[in-house]
Amino acid sequence: MSSSVKSIVVLTGAGISAESGIETFRAEDGLWANHPVDDVATPEGFSRNPQLVYEFYNQRRRQLLSDEIKPNAAHTALAKFEHDFPGFFLLVTQNIDNLHERAGSQNLLHMHGELLKMRCLNSKMVFDIQEDIDFDSHCRCCRSPGNLRPHIVWFGEMPFHMNQINIALEACDLFVAIGTSGNVYPASGFYQTAKIRKAHTAELNLEETGSTFDKHVYGQATETVPSYFEALLSA
Ligand code: APR
Repeated sequence: MSSSVKSIVVLTGAGISAESGIETFRAEDGLWANHPVDDVATPEGFSRNPQLVYEFYNQRRRQLLSDEIKPNAAHTALAKFEHDFPGFFLLVTQNIDNLHERAGSQNLLHMHGELLKMRCLNSKMVFDIQEDIDFDSHCRCCRSPGNLRPHIVWFGEMPFHMNQINIALEACDLFVAIGTSGNVYPASGFYQTAKIRKAHTAELNLEETGSTFDKHVYGQATETVPSYFEALLSA
């Protein structure tokens, strides 16, 4: 590990979970090809037809909790690196699955929320959830129906933990983006913030995204992530 790297921020997107069996968003047969974003991932869509939104996330929650879905070698490599790296390490994910946690990642921020959490519109309290919910589901705080929404950031809403993320980006020596198309702001701008502060930036992705990272490593995350981070630790 070159001693100059003391602080690392990693950003992950849907591509890191693709080989675990969770579809990405913008692939040809991706999530947004089969579900109109406006209907299932906006506050307007939720107020128009909450049942459609509940069912969209119930389906994804059921899939995530099924036996087939497990962390892959990329998730595991990141958790191992975090454990072995002596400096500061922050993992920011756009993903709402729990595969990073299940792989052992510790210093982890879900900037777009979590599929296994719900929020009460009244009290703003956040609850862990595994079962399906619908309009008649009661929140545990007000004990009345109709108050629950997925604790997930929809289009037009502010992502979580932005202050903490920006502080880490401005202090890091290395920023690595893994499995994200760079289509959604503010995550797509993180590498520019890191670059302003002279950090080295690397993108590990299946295909080109048109972003101007210092380094690009193309391939499947389960191959590129273990080899990139093993090399980083032994550099
Ligand atoms: N290994 C590495 N990269 C992969 C793999 C893989 N096995 N499979 C796909 N990818 C790459 C794709 O090439 C693509 O660039 O992962 C990226 C996935 O891009 P998107 O589907 O756009 O997902 P993401 O970038 O995470 O989307 C960001 O958009 O819709 C919102 O909230 C949603 O968090 C999501 C955000």
